[in-house]
Amino acid sequence: AKIYAYGIRKDEEPYLNEWAKNHADVTVDYTAELLTPETAAQAAGADGVVVYQQLDYTAETLQALADQGVTKMSLRNVGIDNIDMAKAKELGFEITNVPVYSPNAIAEHAAIQTARILRQSKKLDKKIENGDLRWAPTIGREVRDQVVGVVGTGHIGQVFMQIMEGFGAKVIAYDVFKDPELEKKGYYVSLDEIYAQADVISLHVPALESTIHMINDETIAKMKDDAVLVNVSRGPLVDTDAVIRALDSGKLFGFVMDTYEDEVGIFNEDWQGKEFPDARLNDLIHRDNVLVTPHTAFYTTHAVRNMVLKAFDNNLALVKGEEPETPVKVG
Ligand code: COI
Repeated sequence: AKIYAYGIRKDEEPYLNEWAKNHADVTVDYTAELLTPETAAQAAGADGVVVYQQLDYTAETLQALADQGVTKMSLRNVGIDNIDMAKAKELGFEITNVPVYSPNAIAEHAAIQTARILRQSKKLDKKIENGDLRWAPTIGREVRDQVVGVVGTGHIGQVFMQIMEGFGAKVIAYDVFKDPELEKKGYYVSLDEIYAQADVISLHVPALESTIHMINDETIAKMKDDAVLVNVSRGPLVDTDAVIRALDSGKLFGFVMDTYEDEVGIFNEDWQGKEFPDARLNDLIHRDNVLVTPHTAFYTTHAVRNMVLKAFDNNLALVKGEEPETPVKVG
């Protein structure tokens, strides 16, 4: 069998080589380039492709790949919102993703950033750099004194809950799909109760019609004063302008933002020496009580290794006509 991989970064190469070494009967070839109508021809002769990109998998791209006789495609990440599913179905594509590569990567990032917000770390760091070594007024809040409201209790949400409990916080949770174990332990409350009771609100849900801009002027008004908002899941969940209003008014104590509704084409790019493309983002980056990271919560050695290994396992299953571990519903 022959598998061709697109968009392979330097940090992924060791894991790709590890997989190839353990599958000597499979020919693995790869490029740093992304899958586009122009690069699709590179997959000629392959039985399947392994891909990751924030670019769209457009009808044209999928057609170009199908023209090479390749319709078995394995994503190295979880999100599938950038695939033209109607076209994929029409062309008979079989697709897999990696829904669980390291919940800890994302949950730990959320926890670290939450703790930093509570200790006013960014402000303190700036003071120290400037030679101001006074304590006051940069006083911290302890995690154990917080009620932490977790919205979305999938793999990531549950790890985040455990970490916060490790620090001694009281954790409450909301999800439309209730985990029976968590339900037995009495974690679940309504979304309105989360807003009313939580000092820290952390989002761990996908971007769906029902969740886009779920954090807006109205829901922020329901929150406690000095609440901390944490979004390491999907940018569109948050109405960024509403959050800025709440930061300006002092309603929100802080904001952890690893994902941003306008991030595509901006995050994971180098803007040094160039005109920064987004004034609103620039404003957020420079606030003491906002911690912006460019969608890096997932980016750990553990996660990247699993993304690569699991995607190749999935693709080999597709190529062999076996049931892959995590197929994506096409259509
Ligand atoms: C995903 O896996 O969908 C992510 O959000 C991480 C991605 C940027 C690799």
